[in-house]
Amino acid sequence: MTDKIRRISTGIKDMDKLIEGGFKKNSVNLIAGGAGSGKTIFAIQFLVEGIRNKEPGIYITFEEKKEKIYEDMLYCFGWDLAKYEKEGLFVFLEYTPEQVKRVLIEGGGTIDNLITRTKATRMVIDSITSFALLYKDELTKKEASLALFELIDKWGCTAVLTSQEHTLGDGSISSALEFEVDSIILLYHIKEKIGRVRSLEILKMRGTKHPHKTFYFDINKGGIVVNPKKFV
Ligand SMILES: Nc1ncnc2c1ncn2[C@@H]1O[C@H](COP(=O)(O)OP(=O)(O)O)[C@@H](O)[C@H]1O
Ligand SMILES: [Mg+2]
Repeated sequence: MTDKIRRISTGIKDMDKLIEGGFKKNSVNLIAGGAGSGKTIFAIQFLVEGIRNKEPGIYITFEEKKEKIYEDMLYCFGWDLAKYEKEGLFVFLEYTPEQVKRVLIEGGGTIDNLITRTKATRMVIDSITSFALLYKDELTKKEASLALFELIDKWGCTAVLTSQEHTLGDGSISSALEFEVDSIILLYHIKEKIGRVRSLEILKMRGTKHPHKTFYFDINKGGIVVNPKKFV
């Protein structure tokens, strides 16, 4: 008998039913899009979903400032990251790409201890773009991303990585990554006649039957809400 693939809820409203129930357990998922397309909100919403189910999460960022994120998420969505942190369900790590590089060289290093202490099962790296810039050529980039994926697997986490571009497949920064990740979700914020419209596309998701349409989504008080009935 085959084991059913275990699914981890994305926390994005109306997204899970498009992807057989959620991300695959222990998978690495890339969320790619331009500035302001909703990557950080997506990533934190994924962690908040875990927190609601008492699954601790770690948010590693190179760009975002803790106070600003805490303030914005509380004000916009009512997600009280400071409280979750006190409860031991959320860790905010402001790392430099060099620190993450060190973690890779040490085969886990400081994050090993953190995972043991918090029992985190969800992890976000926001964004992977500046990390990838540390490596000059495709081969070393590929080696580094493989090392990172091995660590995520060892830690037993389901991961969301954000990527700052939307031009995948053109030899851009994440091309080493795009073949290795388990899924890629593209976020768009495109100008139409009436103004900009948000939409998302599941470009790939291993082991999952998913639609090939581009679905509109909104950001409201609850965070990102996919509209499964409105697509292009
Ligand atoms: N409460 C809100 N309601 C609607 N839209 C919001 C809200 N908060 C933020 N946004 C939108 O989300 C955008 C920022 O999303 P973010 O996840 O930070 O983008 P990215 O990380 O892709 O740069 C803002 O530019 C704004 O348009
Ligand atoms: Mg962001």
